[in-house]
Amino acid sequence: MITGANAGIGKDTARQLALKKETEKIYLACRNPSKAKKAQQELEEVTGRSIFEIIIMDVSDSESVRTAVSALAEPIDALIMNAGGTGGQQPDKITKDGVTTITATNLLGHVVLVDELLKDNKLKNIALFASSEAARGIKQMGMKRPNLKSSSVDEFAAIFDGTVFKDDFDPMQVYGLIKYGGTLWMSSMARKYPNIKFISMSPGGTRGTQGFDDLPFLQRVMFKYIGMPIIMPLMGMSHSLAKGAKRFVDGITDESLISGVFYGSKKNVLTGPIVDQRTIFPDLGNEIFQDNAHQAIYRFVRS
Ligand SMILES: NC(=O)c1ccc[n+]([C@@H]2O[C@H](COP(=O)([O-])OP(=O)(O)OC[C@H]3O[C@@H](n4cnc5c(N)ncnc54)[C@H](OP(=O)(O)O)[C@@H]3O)[C@@H](O)[C@H]2O)c1
Repeated sequence: MITGANAGIGKDTARQLALKKETEKIYLACRNPSKAKKAQQELEEVTGRSIFEIIIMDVSDSESVRTAVSALAEPIDALIMNAGGTGGQQPDKITKDGVTTITATNLLGHVVLVDELLKDNKLKNIALFASSEAARGIKQMGMKRPNLKSSSVDEFAAIFDGTVFKDDFDPMQVYGLIKYGGTLWMSSMARKYPNIKFISMSPGGTRGTQGFDDLPFLQRVMFKYIGMPIIMPLMGMSHSLAKGAKRFVDGITDESLISGVFYGSKKNVLTGPIVDQRTIFPDLGNEIFQDNAHQAIYRFVRS
């Protein structure tokens, strides 16, 4: 099952997985029925396989996630939590669960999704979270490394509900912090559920996606039309859609990857071979921080 599978990296991951003959079925978990249908048709055409099934799921709405899981007739082998980004037109808008929309889309919906799947015994092997090098900072893009005061449960909760930002809510900075929180949650889950593999993976700087479409005009022009296609490839900061998606395919198929680890690009680049991101930002390996982020996001999960 791939969330946000109608576009960008999620859709290309579906295409690449369908080209593997051992893949029997791919659930495209999407929020928009007509976009999902269009993607399904295109994927069938390009892969020659009719193995794509649509599940309507808005990951920013936990009720929608719960409804989708209860309608799922059979267990899945692998979950790719791909939906996400900088949070749409109103990333700081508070959802009915009490978090910002950017948190709901990247993180809370996926926390509920994993919980519901595990509760119903519908997740068999592996869960992959689409993280980002933003979670350890990307100096060249002005994205700061997370620098928390105490990394307490309260501090993580204030990141998730947006209160820590007061009047200074910059989606590009907040994005890195939410991916950081999600990555810590994954590592905590890996210790809690040793029978399931939990991998965080960054696709790296990936072109040909819808990303940046919701940013304010100037930032959008800077990143989407100048940075990503022209400047960043020269600096080893962006690669093709197929290369980005291949990281997710490898993430669920490469048996040498270790549960609880966040894999992404080497220092100072966003392309090339993947490395354990704890070697760049050791806080990612701090089990107390992992458990605090985990507890903090659960404050917003309604039972
Ligand atoms: N591209 C990069 O360079 C890069 C780098 C690091 C990490 N990532 C991460 O990789 C993932 C995929 O990125 P991308 O660049 O492929 O993004 P994208 O082109 O913007 O695609 C995002 C997908 O997620 C879906 N989505 C967004 N909000 C959703 C919601 N509430 N419920 C269900 N689906 C939702 C979108 O559906 P709609 O079409 O309906 O909006 C779309 O299918 C994201 O988590 C992103 O943060 C990307």
